[in-house]
Amino acid sequence: MEFNLTDEQQLIKQTAAEFAKNDLLPGVIERDEKQQFPTEQIASMGALGFLGMMANPAYGGGGMDTLSYVLAMEEISKIDASASVVMSVNNSLVCWGIDAYGTEAQKQKYLTQLTSGAQIGAFCLSEPEAGSDATSQKTTAIEKDDYYLLNGTKNWITNGGSAGIYLVIAQTHPEKRHKGINAFIVEKGWEGFQIGPKENKLGIRGSDTHSLQFNDVKVPKENRIGEDGFGFKFAMKTLTGGRIGIAAQALGIAAGAYEMALAYSKERKAFGTEICNHQAIAFKLADMHTKIEAARMLVYRAAKDKDENKDYTLSGAMAKLYASQVAMEVTVEAVQIFGGNGYVKDYHVERLMRDAKITQIYEGTSEIQKIVISRAILDR
Ligand code: CAA
Repeated sequence: MEFNLTDEQQLIKQTAAEFAKNDLLPGVIERDEKQQFPTEQIASMGALGFLGMMANPAYGGGGMDTLSYVLAMEEISKIDASASVVMSVNNSLVCWGIDAYGTEAQKQKYLTQLTSGAQIGAFCLSEPEAGSDATSQKTTAIEKDDYYLLNGTKNWITNGGSAGIYLVIAQTHPEKRHKGINAFIVEKGWEGFQIGPKENKLGIRGSDTHSLQFNDVKVPKENRIGEDGFGFKFAMKTLTGGRIGIAAQALGIAAGAYEMALAYSKERKAFGTEICNHQAIAFKLADMHTKIEAARMLVYRAAKDKDENKDYTLSGAMAKLYASQVAMEVTVEAVQIFGGNGYVKDYHVERLMRDAKITQIYEGTSEIQKIVISRAILDR
C-alpha cells in the first residue's frame, strides 16, 4: 500500500511539527507537573485550523481528509499528548458527530464554534458503571413537553472542565436497552449541570478530565441528535472514527520517544564510545523503528479506508490496538536508553511513557478493540 503524501499533506505535517516545536514544547514539562490546561496553545490551534480539520468548510471546518488529520495528530503528539487529546476529541468525536448527524441549526449554532476553537467539545459516554459496557447507561433523558429532563453522572470526561459544548449519551427508553438511547448537545452553564473535581492522572496531565453531574437539566428537543433511539449507534459510529485519532496519538507518542532516544544515543558516551555503537542499544533502536513503521502503516491505512468511504471499523480497531501497544513498548525502551536521565522529568521520555498508557484505555480499551476485531474476522 502506497502512502505518497500530497504537497498539501506534507505542508500540514510540517506546519503541525513546527507548531509543536515552537508553541507546545516550551512549558510542556511544567504544564504536566502542574496539571495545567494549554489554554493559549489550544486557542492557537483553533486559529491554525487544527480543531476542525475534517469538518465541512461551510461551518468553518478545514474540509481535509483523515490522513491529513492523522499526520497533524502524529506530529503534535510527538511533543504534547495532552494538547493532542483535546484536538482529537474535538475533531473526531464532537465536530465529526455534529457534522455527520446534526441538523442544519445544530451545525450553525455549535459546529461553527467548535471548528474555530471558540468553544471546545467533550464527548460524554462513560459512567461509573458503564465504561466498556456502553449499553448499560444509567443517565436518563426523559421526554417532557418541548424538552428532555437529563439526570445522571458521567465519568472520566476529557475536556470536562474546559469544554463549552458537550455531547451527552443518555437512556430515554430503558426498556429498549441500546435502542432507547439518545445523544444530546448540552451547553456548559445550563441549570443543574455541575462539573466535578479534576482527576489527578498518571499521564496526559495537561488535559482536564472530570466527572459531570446532571440534575434535572432541561435539554431542548432540538438538541437531540438524529432520530429517537439513534444515540447508541451515534456513539459507536463516532468512536469508530475517534479510534483512528487515538491510534495517531499513540503513533506520535512512540515516534517522539524514539526520535529523542535515537538522538540521545548518538551523543551519550559509555565505555569509550557513543552508546548507539553498542549492539545492546542499536538492537533496541532497530526494534523500535520497525514497530513504529508497522504501526504507521496500520494507522494510515485506517485513515485511507475512511477517506475512501470503505468500512473502517476493523482497520481502525487494529490501528488503535497495535499503535497503543507500540506506544507502551517504545516509550519504555526509550526510558531505558536514556538510563538515569530517562527517569527524570527534564528529558521528556518519562512523560511520554506515562502518556502512552492512556491510549490503551480510552475510546475503547485494548480488550474492546480485540472484541471489535475478532467479531469482524469471525463475521459475527
Ligand atoms: N458502528 C455502528 N453501529 C454499531 C457499531 C459500530 N462500530 N458497533 C455496534 N453497533 C451497533 C450494532 O449494529 C447494534 O445495532 P442493532 O441492535 O441495530 O443491530 C448495536 O450497536 C449494539 O451492538 P452490540 O450488540 O455489538 O453491542 P455490545 O453491547 O456487544 O457492545 C462494544 C459492543 C464494541 C463492546 C461497544 O459497547 C463498545 O465499543 N464499547 C466501548 C465503549 C468505549 O469506547 N468507551 C470509551 C468512552 S469514550 C472516550 O473515551 C472519549 C474520551 O473522553 C477520550
